[in-house]
Amino acid sequence: MEDRFGHRISYLRVSVTDRCNERCQYCMPQEEQEWLSRDDVLSYEEMLRVIRVGAGMGISKVRVTGGEPLTRRNVLWFFDELNKVEGIKDIGISTNGTLLGKRTHEGITTAQALKNAGVRTVNVSLDTLDPKEYAETTGRDLFHEAVAGIDAARGAGFEKIKINSVLMRHRNEHELWDLIEFARDRDLLLRFIELMPVSTTQVLTEENFLPSGEAKKLIEFRLGKLKPRPDIRTNGPATYYEVPETGQIIGFIGAMTNLHFCETCNKLRLTCEGKLRPCLGSHLEFDMREILRNPDMTDADVATFFKHVVDRKPEMHEFRDNYRPGRKMIAIGG
Ligand code: 5AD
Ligand code: SF4
Repeated sequence: MEDRFGHRISYLRVSVTDRCNERCQYCMPQEEQEWLSRDDVLSYEEMLRVIRVGAGMGISKVRVTGGEPLTRRNVLWFFDELNKVEGIKDIGISTNGTLLGKRTHEGITTAQALKNAGVRTVNVSLDTLDPKEYAETTGRDLFHEAVAGIDAARGAGFEKIKINSVLMRHRNEHELWDLIEFARDRDLLLRFIELMPVSTTQVLTEENFLPSGEAKKLIEFRLGKLKPRPDIRTNGPATYYEVPETGQIIGFIGAMTNLHFCETCNKLRLTCEGKLRPCLGSHLEFDMREILRNPDMTDADVATFFKHVVDRKPEMHEFRDNYRPGRKMIAIGG
C-alpha cells in the first residue's frame, strides 16, 4: 500500500483499549474518565480481522497500544492470535510498564508471557526517575512498579526494549542525564519525545514545552557533542545520536520541531473503537466498525476501506498549525 506521497504503509498501530491505570498529564489528566462502553470497543476478533486484511495488503508490523494495553482482559490471548497472522513479522507493544512485572496464572511475568507470545519489541514510557515527580506526572504512585516492569522485560530477553521519555520543562529537564545513565546501565534504547497535542492540549503550553533541540543542547553541555547517527533507523521518526566516550545511542522524536518528521511515515492507526486513522496528528478518521459489524460486508470491502484511508493520508501532520513553539499559544482544536 502506498499513499499519494509515496509513503509505503507497512505498520499498523492498534489501540486495544482507551483505559489506563495511570493519568498522565499530557494524555488523560482527569481523574474521572468517560470510558467507552464495551460494545463500542472492537472485540479482539474484529481487530484480528482488520489485521489479517491489512497483512494481505502489506502490513507486516503491528504495535499494540492503548490506553494501557495490559489493562484489557485476556490481552495475552490476543497477542498469541496476532502472532499467528500470516504476514505479520514484527509485533511490538507500547506500555507504561507498570504491569509487565505482574505474574500470570502460570506464574511467569507478563513480560515473559508477551515474549513467549512472539512480541519482539517493548516500548516503555518513563519520563522521570524521581518517584515523586513520577506520581505527579502520571497521577499514580507507580514508579517502582514501572521500573520493576522494565526489569521484568529485561529478564524476558526481548530483542529490543525502548524507553520513551516525554520532554517537559521544569519536570524532567534536569534529569536528562540521569535518564541517559539509567538507560545505559540497563542496555535500553532511550528516546526523548517532544510533547504533542495528542489527546489533551492543555498541558502543551510554552511553559511546559521543551524542544528536542534544547534538550540536546542540555545533554551536550554535560556529556559533550552528540554525534549524529543517520545510519541508525528504527521503524519510526526518531533521529539518533551517539554519546561521546560511552558510545551510547539515544534518540529524539521531534514531532513539533523536526520538519522532516513525516517523510518516512509508514503508519496507520486503528483506534479501539474501530476508527482507522491515517495520521496521529490529523483529525481525519474513518469508521471501520460499521463495516466490520455489517454481515454483508466481506474482507474485500474491508480491504477497499483500507485503500480509501491510505489515499487520504496527509503529507504531514497538522500539529504545527495548532502550536508553534516559541510563539504565543493559540487555541488548539482538540
Ligand atoms: N505528547 C507526547 N508523547 C505522548 N505520549 C502520550 N501522550 C503524549 C503527548 N501528548 C507518549 C507516552 C508513550 C507514548 C505511547 O506516547 O508517554 O511513551
Ligand atoms: Fe496511560 Fe500512557 Fe496515557 Fe500515561 S500516556 S495516561 S500511561 S495511556
